[in-house]
Amino acid sequence: MKRTLGVCYYPEHWPEAQWAEDAQRMAELGLTWVRIGEFAWKRMEPREGEYDWGWLDRAIETLGAAGLKVVLGTPTATPPKWVCKKHPDMFAVDEQGHVRGYGSRRHYCFSHQGFLEECRGVVRAIAERYGRNPHVAAWQTDNEYGCHDTVISYSDAARDRFRGWLRGQFPGQGNDGDIDALNAAWGNVFWSMDYDDFDEIGLPNLTVTEPNPAHVHAFRRFASEEVVAFNRAQVEIIRAHSDAPIAHNYMGRVTEFDHFKVGDDLDIASWDSYPLGFLEDRVGADAADQRAYARQGDPDFQAFHHDLYRAVGKGRWWIMEQQPGPVNWAPYNPSPLPGMVRLWTWEAFAHGAEAVCYFRWRQAPFAQEQMHAGLLRPDSVAAEAFGEAAQVRDELADAPDVASAQAPVGIVFDYDADWAWSVQSHGAGLSYFGLVFDWYRACRKLGLSVDILPSSAREFSGYAAVIVPGMMHVPIDLKVALQASDTKSILGPRTAARDADFNIPTPLPPAWAGSDLVVSRVQSMRPDLPVPIEGGGHVHLYLEQVEGGGEVVLHTADAPVAVRLDAQTTYVAGWGDDEAHMRLIEAVAPDLATMHMPEGVRCRDTGTERFWFNYTDQPVQVEGHTLPAAGVLRLRL
Ligand code: GAL
Repeated sequence: MKRTLGVCYYPEHWPEAQWAEDAQRMAELGLTWVRIGEFAWKRMEPREGEYDWGWLDRAIETLGAAGLKVVLGTPTATPPKWVCKKHPDMFAVDEQGHVRGYGSRRHYCFSHQGFLEECRGVVRAIAERYGRNPHVAAWQTDNEYGCHDTVISYSDAARDRFRGWLRGQFPGQGNDGDIDALNAAWGNVFWSMDYDDFDEIGLPNLTVTEPNPAHVHAFRRFASEEVVAFNRAQVEIIRAHSDAPIAHNYMGRVTEFDHFKVGDDLDIASWDSYPLGFLEDRVGADAADQRAYARQGDPDFQAFHHDLYRAVGKGRWWIMEQQPGPVNWAPYNPSPLPGMVRLWTWEAFAHGAEAVCYFRWRQAPFAQEQMHAGLLRPDSVAAEAFGEAAQVRDELADAPDVASAQAPVGIVFDYDADWAWSVQSHGAGLSYFGLVFDWYRACRKLGLSVDILPSSAREFSGYAAVIVPGMMHVPIDLKVALQASDTKSILGPRTAARDADFNIPTPLPPAWAGSDLVVSRVQSMRPDLPVPIEGGGHVHLYLEQVEGGGEVVLHTADAPVAVRLDAQTTYVAGWGDDEAHMRLIEAVAPDLATMHMPEGVRCRDTGTERFWFNYTDQPVQVEGHTLPAAGVLRLRL
């Protein structure tokens, strides 16, 4: 498959007389894809059941006539006022019980069945009209599920469906669930929380002190499945009318729903990459790194998501929105260092992206995103990113097709574990995403390409090492599969720390067949009290006390940090820093061909090329080449 470029475009924002020239310029820029429509519900269906397709017919025709392919979005992230008036209780409710109302976007509760019917209606109408349109070559469902904290809703609709979902989890006689089974599984004897009926169960907010973690975790699982069901409802309708592939555009570090499960219903995974916005907003970098990378973004955050979405899309993935200049939404919104838009684009291709689409074509002079750059300024003059996109277009001319190779290292990413950590973090700042991302960064600092693996993976052959940090519930068949493979695995901390119902299992974790190692005590620690590891590195934030096990691989002055469970498996009892993680990877899998990367430089191999990326603002030397600041080096393997 060829690597392609695209852009996000809002024909409804511009006079129709401008469309043909826009389309012409897009084609000249070498773009293949134009994503449209995802916020245009009011223009498509101004009043209930009254559709206005004329403008969209002409927009698609104009783009298609210029040789562009359309990605058509379903507009369900922006229900118009008439929908909201018809369903006054369709809004999500936050943890404090406040309604998250009309006036921006994503103002809906995934559980509201009346709203879901409205969505089915508009999606069916769009699919019927454009399902066979030759220019509509792909679809996008909704927009960024979960962005703006919109997965979890404490609405009445969510409560009622949660009760029904729980009945299904604890099946009993007839249609009713087995409430005693739920009480036993959750440990509701504690604090006299036993229920007599599923209809007594509320949502786990507005309690005096913390609610039962099993209750919260069940609610998080339910909330994720509501997103899966919402997406599936759209997919079923589109598929009935169109053979074009269907994507969703996920957002960076949104973990409140299981992207793998949504992805199972789709053909392509895509995500929206805003490296500078993320650095300020969600990477979790310290102040020094935020300064050093202010105009480049974190050197690993984009790559992590590229690898994640390659897995979610089972190999097929895109960037649906690529930051082109300053954005409007982070605490600080600097300009990218010259060259970074090109670097970000090539980095996505290096990780196997089929397409990179820039957000957006032209900066909007009105409404919420006035301060968000586009490829064009509001006056249609080319903005800085336009030239960098043109450079990529020229470079793509002699680039090979998309070719991904299996990486030497796999890291398991489990959404359920992310919810478990957030339900019961046991210490400020302890997050599953943060832990997995730390391991990912350590691999990359060793020059290793990484595959992210879903927790449903059971086949590990071909990997020199598989890392399963913090996966709080590990199903027995995953344990068996890890033990049966000849891949080295690194587990912990907290791996297998809970059973499926959020209880501490006995025998104590990690209950690894053939090993007597047990986690006998857990503690979280102040971030300013790291504990040195003998020989280099630290353990910080979290350290377990372990008993038993085999050879100690790393230890502090008085306690083990990493212990062998068997010949292939090592259990890590704490949260290490980069040096500790790097030492462990090299100790556990000495066959890996590691290279210690210069600061801010990263490397990635595809099946046919080796890429080097310089995230710093200074030139560096790699493999006999000078890589300028924000530089990309592409070598054929
Ligand atoms: C994304 C969103 C776009 C736009 C963009 C601005 O999260 O999908 O619609 O708002 O952010 O950076």
